[in-house]
Amino acid sequence: MVREKIVRLLGAADPADSVLIKGWVRTRRDSKGFSFLEINDGSCLKNIQVIADASLANYEDIRKITTGSAVAIAGRLVESKGKGQTWELQAADVAILNIAPDDFPLQKKRHTDEFLRTIAHLRPRTNKYGAVFRIRSELSFAVHKFFRDRDFRYIHTPIITGSDCEGAGELFRLTTLSPDQVPVTAGRADYSGDFFGTEANLTVSGQLSAEMLALSLGDVYTFGPTFRAENSNTARHVAEFWMVEPEMAFCDLAGNMQFGEELIKFLVTWLIDNCPEDLNLFAKFVDTSLMATLDNVAASDFVRLPYAEAIDILGASGKKFDYEVSFGKDLQSEHERYLSEAHFKKPVILYDYPKTIKPFYMRLNEDDRTVAAMDVLVPRIGEIIGGSQREERLDVLEERIEETGMSKDPYWWYLDARRFGSVEHSGFGMGFERVLMLVTGITNIRDVIPFPRTPGSIEF
Ligand code: 4AD
Ligand code: MG
Repeated sequence: MVREKIVRLLGAADPADSVLIKGWVRTRRDSKGFSFLEINDGSCLKNIQVIADASLANYEDIRKITTGSAVAIAGRLVESKGKGQTWELQAADVAILNIAPDDFPLQKKRHTDEFLRTIAHLRPRTNKYGAVFRIRSELSFAVHKFFRDRDFRYIHTPIITGSDCEGAGELFRLTTLSPDQVPVTAGRADYSGDFFGTEANLTVSGQLSAEMLALSLGDVYTFGPTFRAENSNTARHVAEFWMVEPEMAFCDLAGNMQFGEELIKFLVTWLIDNCPEDLNLFAKFVDTSLMATLDNVAASDFVRLPYAEAIDILGASGKKFDYEVSFGKDLQSEHERYLSEAHFKKPVILYDYPKTIKPFYMRLNEDDRTVAAMDVLVPRIGEIIGGSQREERLDVLEERIEETGMSKDPYWWYLDARRFGSVEHSGFGMGFERVLMLVTGITNIRDVIPFPRTPGSIEF
């Protein structure tokens, strides 16, 4: 007999004489001559109720089944008389696959997120985390759907790189040498004897490679893991996160902003339409204003605001921030949230940032002091997208690399793209976990990725 997913059975149109499910026991209770089991197989939020009666040969063993145990149950799918469920299973055969001992940590009670982080290997068995990771899966699908419908090509950019795209030096180094094997030449670690014959690290962004493909295939995107060794122990940073990075040839900053807005609206709308049951759990138990926030994001025109005007608004706000703002300073999440959450009450796209706080590749504006950068800020989270129009002029790009104190040599191929058919192009990176925070109302990024990597923490 073929195993059926519980999500299918609960959505069935008709009863069935013989079905087989496999899953984990959430609860079991006995009443006269019956044992009632709630089974969940992860395919959906809801459990299916199973009724096992005393006539079953192994009824005495069934009565010993504990929470967390694994079972395979064959039986009849019948209409349920209980409320809140349409179908239930009358067991004809209950096979006990594995009995969980009494120290199974997820007994029927509420657990804190902090506690559940210490058992990240088991937390997907809870309603909340099961729902997060199903939404995560659906969101990935929606990303691919969005791009495919618009004739974007999905490309794979390297995870091991020799360059620092963001120029921020937040790199995880990659070496096959043990630390005492790295020779020091002229005061600097010398990696010429290493695997690649030079320094290597985990990528912080696939952008530079994506640009090469955009300048060949037109519109492309990458969607992969990225790594940052920034030692900021915040609720919205992890050391390993997933980023969605579109890169578009023949596209300027205005087009880039428009596209970012479209993408976020599409994803939010897709989840509202396709994950109502899981989203409802978050709307009920995590953030009661969640659906209002999502409807607002899906329906609002995102504000367009130059960075300089944002500084004025923040300065005039009369609000006391932990970090002071002035032109030339990077905005903190408190500022970003103030703008989108309190001031405009909807998503805001800030653009034209000072060149001094942005990477070398962003296109220099006429004023010579700002670049064609854009950040999309959303309520409760702040920055969710960071992008720009790229510098397509060879001489300006070379100057910018020098200005930022970087060496041109490793970027020779990147510069080449400005020599052979260089055109205006733009792109951005959208933090996948930040989107998940937005759509679930979860406030700590550690709770939207199965096994988070943060400073000092790499268990699981
Ligand atoms: O603004 P960032 O640094 O932009 C780039 O890396 C560009 N090269 C992307 C591009 O233009 N192709 O990062 C993009 C987004 C941020 O807006 C944020 O949502 C997310 O990536 N992000 C992080 N998410 C989780 N943890 C971290 N440590 C993150 N750092 C950035
Ligand atoms: Mg950024």
